[in-house]
Amino acid sequence: MNFSNKISDLEKNHLLRSRRIANSAQGTNMKIDNKDVINFCSNDYLSLANHPKIKEALVQGVEKYGAGSGASHLVSGHSESHNLLEESLAEFTGQESALLFSSGYSANLGIFSALRDEIEWSVQDKLNHASLIDGCRLVGLPIQRYHHNNLESLANKIKNSLAPDLLLQTMSLVWMEIEQIFKELLRLLTNLILLLCRMMHTALASLIQLFQSTLSIWQLLERLQALWGLLFLETRTS
Ligand SMILES: Cc1ncc(COP(=O)(O)O)c(C=O)c1O
Repeated sequence: MNFSNKISDLEKNHLLRSRRIANSAQGTNMKIDNKDVINFCSNDYLSLANHPKIKEALVQGVEKYGAGSGASHLVSGHSESHNLLEESLAEFTGQESALLFSSGYSANLGIFSALRDEIEWSVQDKLNHASLIDGCRLVGLPIQRYHHNNLESLANKIKNSLAPDLLLQTMSLVWMEIEQIFKELLRLLTNLILLLCRMMHTALASLIQLFQSTLSIWQLLERLQALWGLLFLETRTS
């Protein structure tokens, strides 16, 4: 299949990805494509990207080091700040040392390259992040995938393998699942709103009925009063 066929195939199946433009800083409330939105999909879980202290530290860093490290860590780009951060992270996690990567994706590729000679195959949860799958493929490590969070499926994969050294990678809660949770929450919320509307409708109908019956009682009383007045008048004239 040629490239343009591939693209139109993706388009037909609603799988063609496009990039949205953020017009504001990262945060819970954002402007995306010039629309105000509530952001449920970033990795900025702790809202640090727009934190005043982080911004201040970045400005200080730019003042001291400029806008880039200029080279890889193995050449001349490993600053004292990088070093201090790695040492602090190692101390915080109780490890001998720490190695920083600029993204989760590159960290995962790095893990597989480093461990390639130590392991014979990798077994992964089917919903693991794509970088874990790419990392395996890039270094030619055989990979088996088991059904998400399914220990029976995992046991079967391990039982059927002859290779003793394996790397097991699992993610118990993944973004795709969180999306499902949000969809379910949205469905429950819609049902709740519908239920409230129905209850309000019933309450309103009962009120109208009550009002109508009060009206008819009122009309009856009025008639009785008129009749009484008529009777009273008749007895007085006779
Ligand atoms: C397990 C895992 N690996 C890698 C990544 C990719 O990280 P990044 O976006 O920093 O490349 C993510 C992102 O959510 C992740 O959850």
